[in-house]
Amino acid sequence: MRDVVRVVEVGPRDGLQNEKAQVPTATKIALIDRLSACGFPVVEATSFVSPKWVPQLADAEDVLAGITRREGVAYPVLVPNDKGLARAMAMGERHIAVFTAASDAFNLKNTNIDVDGSLARLEPVVEQARAAGVSVRGYVSTVLGCPYQGAVPVRDVVRVAGALHAMGCDEISLGDTIGVGTPAKAREMLLACAQVVPMPQLAVHFHDTYGQALANVLTCLEAGVRVVDSAVGGLGGCPYAKGASGNLATEDLLYMLEGLGLETGVDRDAVTRTALWIGEALGRRPASKLAAVALANGAAD
Ligand code: HMG
Ligand code: MG
Repeated sequence: MRDVVRVVEVGPRDGLQNEKAQVPTATKIALIDRLSACGFPVVEATSFVSPKWVPQLADAEDVLAGITRREGVAYPVLVPNDKGLARAMAMGERHIAVFTAASDAFNLKNTNIDVDGSLARLEPVVEQARAAGVSVRGYVSTVLGCPYQGAVPVRDVVRVAGALHAMGCDEISLGDTIGVGTPAKAREMLLACAQVVPMPQLAVHFHDTYGQALANVLTCLEAGVRVVDSAVGGLGGCPYAKGASGNLATEDLLYMLEGLGLETGVDRDAVTRTALWIGEALGRRPASKLAAVALANGAAD
């Protein structure tokens, strides 16, 4: 294996968007600052989506204005439409992420439009962002199953990933939104996408509903992927994906990557401490093995 993996920390966005109780803006800011101090190259910060749809992230501008930006760290924000892009541009953001899905049923629930409609809506957003020198990540959700449609054909994932790539997205993240994937299917899906998007521009994004996320990452690493999304403490879920559980926990991912001899530049102990800290702030134990071990060894709960 080549020896470097880029870990994209999505906890402040994908993690917190699903929290029922409003998380204080100051807590979000402190979380992002703690994460950027851990050495991540990317900390996905928040979303410029409709506050009617995701009230938890309605404070996006305040969060971005409050964080301490570290040299070399990108803080992408999720953008669903031209309004979201305008908000990102007004804040001077340099990195955005657009999102759609491989299934119409999920996309309608998540963004009130079918997949082709969302691609048409995103095309000018991506074009405008790139013309302004803003980097664009494209997410494809429900790549290994949809909570409303059920099975998702690989060809549908490939079509959407290819469309986002053709539109000009710099990187395409393949999201198992509800965590139903297993390794052989994850590998097949990734390799099919790599036929239309160069592997270095692909990322994998697993949720851990059935405890398969690490196994899925391993098989995708073996297939050549080198960008992996995860969330500190295993935070997360999508408010519009019935049954979606947390993301793969970053600290557990780092433990595996270290064991494989793959470098990330991220301080695993600092991430585990951050998982314990945000767990305390949210009033529950983090959903990660490393946090459980740290607590068993006497770390503060
Ligand atoms: P809509 O209701 O069809 O759109 O929502 P609309 O244009 O009619 O707007 C409705 C209201 O929202 C209007 O306000 C707009 O102005 C406002 P009103 O006139 O009623 O007062 N609005 C906005 N406000 C601020 N920023 C904006 C914005 N856009 C509209 N950008 C829309 C369509 C796409 C806006 C909505 O469905 C939405 O925001 N959806 C976001 C849902 C979401 O964030 N889901 C979670 C992220 S995806 C995910 O988690 C998966 C991922 O992690 C990968 C994986 O795991 O697979 C990425
Ligand atoms: Mg997600």
